[in-house]
Amino acid sequence: MNQSTIPQKSKNQDSSPIKIEHQTESRIQSVDLDNPGFGNVFADHMLNITYKNNQWQQPLIEPFRELSLSPATATIHYGQTVFEGMKAFRGQNGEVKIFRLHDHLNRLNNSCSRMCIPQLDTELLSRALKKLITIDRKWVPEKYGNALYIRPIIFATDASLGVKPAKTYQLLVITSPVGAYYDEGFDPVNLTTTDEYIRATEGGSGYVKTACNYGPTLLPAQKAKEKGFTQILWLDAHEHKYIEEVGTMNIFFKIDGELHTPPLDGSILGGITRDSVIRLASQWDIPVHQRRITINEIFEADHNNKLEEIFGTGTAAVISPVGSIHHNGKTIVTDREQIGPFAQKLYETITGIQYSTLEDTNQWMSSID
Ligand code: COI
Repeated sequence: MNQSTIPQKSKNQDSSPIKIEHQTESRIQSVDLDNPGFGNVFADHMLNITYKNNQWQQPLIEPFRELSLSPATATIHYGQTVFEGMKAFRGQNGEVKIFRLHDHLNRLNNSCSRMCIPQLDTELLSRALKKLITIDRKWVPEKYGNALYIRPIIFATDASLGVKPAKTYQLLVITSPVGAYYDEGFDPVNLTTTDEYIRATEGGSGYVKTACNYGPTLLPAQKAKEKGFTQILWLDAHEHKYIEEVGTMNIFFKIDGELHTPPLDGSILGGITRDSVIRLASQWDIPVHQRRITINEIFEADHNNKLEEIFGTGTAAVISPVGSIHHNGKTIVTDREQIGPFAQKLYETITGIQYSTLEDTNQWMSSID
C-alpha cells in the first residue's frame, strides 16, 4: 500500500490516557527488514501530540499519514523545531528494548529550552513511545546491525509570519527500520576539513538537535562528496584550528593508548553514543580526555606514530571507523582501511548491550513492555 494513502481508522479501544487509532492494513509485507536502507520506509503508526491552550494535549497513536499544513506555518519559515534520534533493538529472545530512552528524552527537553518550545512530560512521552513501539513491534528488524530508528520531531504550527515563539506545536514520533547510516556500512569513512564554511559557534545552537544545524551543512557536504569524501570534519568557527564534530557524529582519537574527544563547550552535540563510549572507556581504565584538540596535533601524532585509531560515534552512525582525514592538502590514512581493534571492541560491546547478548550493567536499555 502507498505510504501517502490516508488509511481507514478504527475506534479507540484503549482506556489509557493514550488514545489509539489502529492502522487497518499493514504495509510491512512490502518492506525488506533485512535491507531497509536508512530512513526511507516508515512503520504503520506514529505518535501525535499537539500543544495548545498552554499545554500538551492527550497523546494520540494513529496510522502514519501525510500532514496538512498552512503555507504560513511558522516552522517552514523560521525553523522553530527540534528532533531526536534513538533506536529500538530486538534481542535474541525476541524482546524489544530502547537504548538510553530517558537520556534521549532529556536531551529533547534541553533542545526545546534552546528553541523556546514548551517542555514535555518525559514520563508520559516515554509511556506513549513504548506503546507506539509495542503496536509496531513487528517492524523492529531481527537482523543483527539493523534496528527501528525512532525519530521524534516537534515543530511550531502557528500560521503566522511574525518572528516570535509560537503558541501551538505538534510533536510527532515516526519510526523507521534501518541498517547502516553510511553507504560504507561499517567500513571506514573518509573525512575532510573545510576552511570555507563553519557549522556552529559558541552562543549559537550547535549543541541542539535542530534543523538549522543541518540545512546549511548540505552545500559543504555536497562539495566534499564531489571530491570523494564521505563527510566534513568541522573545525572551530574562529580559528579553523580546533576539531569539533562531523555533523552526523562526534569524533574520537586514540593516541598512545588514551582517548581524546572535543569537549561539550556549546558548539557540538552532546551525543548519547559519545557519552556511552566515554563511560565504557573509563570502566575499562582507558584515560579519556575531553579537551580542545587541534587538527595539527592529530597530524603530528600520526607523524610520530602515536595515532592509533580515529572513529565517529552517533545513534545513526553507531561506531564508524574513520579511514582518512584530509586537511590543507595533506591526508592521514589510519587503520589501512580496516576498523581498529578499539573501535571494534566498542562496537561489539555497545551492540552486544543493545541486542541483549551482553549484560546491561549500566542500565541503558528500556524494555517496551
Ligand atoms: C542520529 O544519529 O540519530 C542523528 O540524528 C544524526 C543524523 C541522522 C541527523
